[in-house]
Amino acid sequence: MPAVPIAVVNVLNTPYEIIVEPGVIARAGETIRKVVPSRVCGVFTDETIARLYLPALQKSLAAVGYEVVTAIIPAGEAHKTLESVKIGYDAFLAKNFERSTPIISFGGGVVGDITGFIAATLLRGVPFVQIPTTLLAMVDASVGGKTGIDHPAGKNLIGAFHQPRAVLIDPELLKSLPPRELRSGLAECIKHDIIRDADHFATLEHSIDRALKLDIAYLTDLIAHNVAIKARVVEADPFEKTERAHLNFGHTFGHAIETVSQYAYAHGECVALGMIAASRMASRLKMIDDKSVDRITCCIAAAGLPTGRMSLPIPDVLDAMKFDKKVKDGKIRFVLPDRIGHVVVRDDVPMDLVRDALLSVTG
Ligand SMILES: NC(=O)c1ccc[n+]([C@@H]2O[C@H](COP(=O)([O-])OP(=O)(O)OC[C@H]3O[C@@H](n4cnc5c(N)ncnc54)[C@H](O)[C@@H]3O)[C@@H](O)[C@H]2O)c1
Ligand SMILES: [Zn+2]
Repeated sequence: MPAVPIAVVNVLNTPYEIIVEPGVIARAGETIRKVVPSRVCGVFTDETIARLYLPALQKSLAAVGYEVVTAIIPAGEAHKTLESVKIGYDAFLAKNFERSTPIISFGGGVVGDITGFIAATLLRGVPFVQIPTTLLAMVDASVGGKTGIDHPAGKNLIGAFHQPRAVLIDPELLKSLPPRELRSGLAECIKHDIIRDADHFATLEHSIDRALKLDIAYLTDLIAHNVAIKARVVEADPFEKTERAHLNFGHTFGHAIETVSQYAYAHGECVALGMIAASRMASRLKMIDDKSVDRITCCIAAAGLPTGRMSLPIPDVLDAMKFDKKVKDGKIRFVLPDRIGHVVVRDDVPMDLVRDALLSVTG
């Protein structure tokens, strides 16, 4: 059976397909070959994915005649660095890659962001394909073309916009994902419904435990739904000038919590606390009713994500928020829900309300 695209992202008139299908790895070669025909291709991955799944991907690529050049980095955010980029440049330039030679990203968001950056800059831009392997990368990082690496001065400070030519998502790969990483991805799924889809939220809040039980049919539908939301937002605003900022719901608080915790909290855990803090702030601003805030909190709890007990110094978190790269003209911008399924951007929130919102997630 041919792989069926579930969404087409049309950014700047270069549309690309996103395919979500259990087992799609086995057919990756034929699908990629159609989109980016070439004799050689690169695969950039980390040691964990190389051990678990690289042989299967290589087999599928070799079956359609690709000569595969691999570059493998150690796993984890600590390796989202220029050194890892260099590992890719060295491996691919040693094999005389040309402008038309595709590079495949095979891993979570860390691998995806680095591979995208390599593809954006190698020979001033080569095609790249995303095969995300974490839930977060499937529903968020692999769609939209944001690529980059970290710098000692902060996360994602170096990067480029470079859209993939295709995204292949195999929900079966989630079976080996550590549960904490799975829950982290669910935070972004909850976020998508709060910013865009009240009807789906009403289903999600009663069914999200099926994701935790690794129900693959459920996860397939969930991923397809989330990819479609992300695709629509990115199409409307590829360079984050307007509505793409809605995807930052929960992230103004979340990023600051992540920084101050020195990454002891997972990204999705920080976003979970951030979404609750932002929703409570919206309630204090009389933008949203308390019942909706309770539903948001309960859904986050049902996903096994934290809803309180944040044990970080509030002044430090407030300081980190002021240094966020999305602060504009000294004003902190918040994405706040005025109902489930809809958000607005506010940059006029009094600091005492911000502090109270943070305090509310310490209890
Ligand atoms: N570009 C974007 O739009 C965007 C959006 C959101 C996040 N991000 C970035 O994504 C990164 C986080 O991505 P992440 O949460 O996927 O983390 P990650 O890439 O570090 O993956 C988490 C861990 O899980 C392992 N892993 C991955 N897939 C696995 C699988 N199927 N089975 C077993 N283990 C597996 C990885 O080796 C790693 O150790 C951050 O750097 C963030 O900045 C980018
Ligand atoms: Zn996020």
